[in-house]
Amino acid sequence: MPDRRRVLAGGLAVLASGAAPRLARAASAPAMIMREIEARAGTASLLEDGGPLTDIWGFGGGVPGPVLRVEQGARVRVRLKNSLPQPTTIHWHGIRIDNANDGVAGLTQEAVPPGETFDYDFVAPDAGTFWYHPHNRSWEQLARGLYGTLIVDEPEPPAVDQDLVLNFDDWRLDSAGKLHEESFGSLMDWSHAGRLGNVLTVNGKPFETISVKAGDRLRLRVLNTSNARVLSFRFTDHVPMLIALDGQPVEPAALAGDLILAPGERADVMLDMALAPGAKASIEEVSGQDGLEIARFVYHPSETAREHPLDAPMRLAANPLVRGLELGDALSQDLLMEGGAMGGMAGARMGGEMMDMRALVGRGMAWAFNGVVGMEQTPLLSAARGRTVRIPMINDTGWPHAIHIHGHHFRVLERNGAPVAGEAWKDTVLVAPRERVVVAFVADNPGKWMLHCHMLEHQAAGMGTWFAVA
Ligand code: C2O
Ligand code: CU
Repeated sequence: MPDRRRVLAGGLAVLASGAAPRLARAASAPAMIMREIEARAGTASLLEDGGPLTDIWGFGGGVPGPVLRVEQGARVRVRLKNSLPQPTTIHWHGIRIDNANDGVAGLTQEAVPPGETFDYDFVAPDAGTFWYHPHNRSWEQLARGLYGTLIVDEPEPPAVDQDLVLNFDDWRLDSAGKLHEESFGSLMDWSHAGRLGNVLTVNGKPFETISVKAGDRLRLRVLNTSNARVLSFRFTDHVPMLIALDGQPVEPAALAGDLILAPGERADVMLDMALAPGAKASIEEVSGQDGLEIARFVYHPSETAREHPLDAPMRLAANPLVRGLELGDALSQDLLMEGGAMGGMAGARMGGEMMDMRALVGRGMAWAFNGVVGMEQTPLLSAARGRTVRIPMINDTGWPHAIHIHGHHFRVLERNGAPVAGEAWKDTVLVAPRERVVVAFVADNPGKWMLHCHMLEHQAAGMGTWFAVA
């Protein structure tokens, strides 16, 4: 396998809306969409423009799949057509959806067999940046390229010159640029950090060049769709303002330090192009030893969009979440994470049977929540509708985990006993080794919902459970 490498862009890839800056209101998002999305094999130039093609699986045959864009409150009707050799589904990550459309194989629907279709039909209650991906053999199907961005527009989006998606993925390719298939299911990955790749892409390409004018304001929707890699972004010479996390608005604030996104997480940032005409600046991914330049802002050599930075507000209107946590009366349920390499887990229950670590590993399993490996008949918890649920998440392993909850957004209340400032509502939270993170939410969405690690190999090797809201 090649080292995680810097791949030079063979050509200038300009985003669709990049050429002609304008004060865009995303007024074009429809009140309803109806479309068919075919999951099928395709190819992509992951290494360099015009370079070797990689065989992928993609929605619409491409990677990422089509950007779906609707206005807040719109009805989304998507017919999934499965032309893959495996059963699949679509899960709408971060959408507080009605349960029957959540797309979880074995919990909310049967996986759609090859050659068949499934109709999703739901309303998108929250404006923001979301994504969609299969929820069947996710560890393989996402690694092969099955995912796409779902944008739900605010009725009054903040004024920007460009509204861009930066969808990042981490691929494991061999030296010929083919997907490293031999390591699918590798116990080494499953019991350690997950499937880490050696090639980083943005929007399915090795590099993105963003043409701007001095004075432009950009909204960037940044997504980490990697199987397992936590990504860290540095914006050189610019100060990004964070306006939303996981699709939910936050009080706009300058990013302190790098933008760190675990698998599944999203951030919306605003960026004022404050340099002079002709300038260049980068977005670097800095989680590795050497920073990797993955995108570049190229200022028009002479033109200026405006003399002074836009002073229009950046704040997004709040989404209709139920915020009133009643912590005094909460249903509190610990989530104890155990296992993995060097974790010292002696054994756990699987399929109702106690097994030692050796027996679990023999079944490809390595992790447990509360002493249970994978999904059981009984849920982690059952909450009456409207009840506040509080979950202390205790990472008693040597590895970070990105814990994702379906159907709800939660507040992060505490980290290692210290209260968390600000009021971000998240659907995925990174929990460091030995860390204890307390989250809470109002269980207002009836159904059967998954709670799992979004490091997809960890999920497959045991870190997945579910809870019920009645
Ligand atoms: Cu993004 Cu359960 O998934
Ligand atoms: Cu994990």
